[in-house]
Amino acid sequence: MTVDITILVGTMTGTAEIVAEEVQAALEAAGHSAAIAAMDSLDAHVFDRGSAFLIVTSTYGAGDVPDNAQSFFAAIEGGRPALSHVSFGVIALGDRTYKGTYCEGGLKFGRLLSELGARRIGEPMLHDASAGTMPEEIAAEWVVGWVEDHLAPALKAA
Ligand SMILES: Cc1cc2nc3c(=O)[nH]c(=O)nc-3n(C[C@H](O)[C@H](O)[C@H](O)COP(=O)(O)O)c2cc1C
Repeated sequence: MTVDITILVGTMTGTAEIVAEEVQAALEAAGHSAAIAAMDSLDAHVFDRGSAFLIVTSTYGAGDVPDNAQSFFAAIEGGRPALSHVSFGVIALGDRTYKGTYCEGGLKFGRLLSELGARRIGEPMLHDASAGTMPEEIAAEWVVGWVEDHLAPALKAA
């Protein structure tokens, strides 16, 4: 089964965008479709465009979503759309040196979408910027397994 995924990107300095591009390339190489949307000007209507989403976002401040994701997050939190048709995964970028708020940006998104009835598929992929690994390489390796072992079976059963 091939899937059509919309990748929603929250970033301050571009790392999440690079991750999204590599994830898109890996998905397309495996025969799936993937579109990337920066969170900057999005509102909850983006969830009308399909049923499969991947949140790729970093963390800033005291465990917050980055600036370009703030209005999107607030629009979902305030508008509380029903998202029971949505299945989603999370790639959360962070840094373990921020002890209490490690990867909270992506985890916060996951909690919000779950509260609104969306189904989180599989465990979030967390990346630690202090580990010395390249998030785009790890994510590109992770994503095809996530789609084929978790997302596609869930969509098929739905
Ligand atoms: C000012 C600042 C604050 C940050 N705050 C956190 C944080 O609270 N928790 C966390 O896990 N990572 C935090 N990070 C790390 C970033 O989320 C991480 O470096 C990420 O890979 C950046 O991705 P981006 O380029 O897509 O924004 C912070 C980084 C900076 C520069």
